[in-house]
Amino acid sequence: MLPPAVDSLLTDEALSEAPLARSKTIPSAWYVDPAFHAFDRDAVLARTWQYVGPASRVRNHGDFMSDVIAGNPIVIVRTKDGELKGWFNVCKHRGGPLAMEECGHSKVLQCKYHGWTYLLDGALRGVPRFDRTELFDKKDFSLDPVAVHEWQGMIFCCIEPGQAPPFEEVLAGIVERIAPLELGGLGFHQRDRYDVKANWKVYVDNYLEGYHIPLVHPDLCDVLDFRSYQTDTMEHYSLQHSPLKDDDNIYGSASEQAFYYFIYPNIMLNILPGRLQVNRVDPQAWNACQTVFDYYYTSETLAADPGRIQADRTFSDQVQAEDIDICERVQAGLESRAYDQGRFSYDLEGGVHHFQQLLKRSYRNARETGS
Ligand SMILES: [Fe+2]
Repeated sequence: MLPPAVDSLLTDEALSEAPLARSKTIPSAWYVDPAFHAFDRDAVLARTWQYVGPASRVRNHGDFMSDVIAGNPIVIVRTKDGELKGWFNVCKHRGGPLAMEECGHSKVLQCKYHGWTYLLDGALRGVPRFDRTELFDKKDFSLDPVAVHEWQGMIFCCIEPGQAPPFEEVLAGIVERIAPLELGGLGFHQRDRYDVKANWKVYVDNYLEGYHIPLVHPDLCDVLDFRSYQTDTMEHYSLQHSPLKDDDNIYGSASEQAFYYFIYPNIMLNILPGRLQVNRVDPQAWNACQTVFDYYYTSETLAADPGRIQADRTFSDQVQAEDIDICERVQAGLESRAYDQGRFSYDLEGGVHHFQQLLKRSYRNARETGS
């Protein structure tokens, strides 16, 4: 059963799909009803591949990396056999945390609350002071698994294993499209987080169109050849791409491209010559989200060009501040009584329409299966 508040807003009309030229935007209630917060996490984010972090953090036996994915603490480990495994970072005793740091090294996972100890294969091994507890079998208290996949130097996971489409199908074609650029050869540099007082779907919609660039990002408009800005939509992702404008901008020359990949429902790969920035949009509440920004560069840039890295981050910070400001104002507009549904620019909002169609598909699935 879906929560009644959600069910009543998933009408056939709201869920119907129409081609871009005729479609309305999704109803404002889907952005402002508090019930959609848990629903989006369960029906959308938990059933898709989520970016976790750089594979370089879990290269060797005992390396681990932890994060919170769709509201759930998880930990990724590298086992003795060299396998990647993912677990909920939740002790089966009283729900305590196994890994507290974002990354580190340990040959076992020990709960930081009462010291229950698990092997990296998820089996419970050590249980202090439990001799007099009756009818207790450690085998019943193994960690719950999450699905893990490594791709191009990055780790992805799905917290409902078996529910996401096969990984290779989701990202099919990206490696070929961006060649000769290679993401796997880039090295991780840093992670930034930004809090946004808007529903996560507001942030995603905004990411997916270049329509707002001239007004909201005048400086970015000077870097991109905006007249050539294009959006392609594929089954599970869309791509906005644009040639760069002149030879002396901070990102490269006019012969090179900027690629903005959006992987449904909340992951972005922003690719410029020699640089990758990965974004993950994490819902925090019905009216708040946090965006994670991970930066990767070539080894030459990392070793010898701190100026480029600093300029990249400063400019990205500026664009992000502009986006956060407009998203927070849009959230207020969506909450107002003056707005319900709008329309799309055929030329410049195809990516938003694509996202909203996929969202409707996730919602319809949840309605059909009742969960
Ligand atoms: Fe923007």
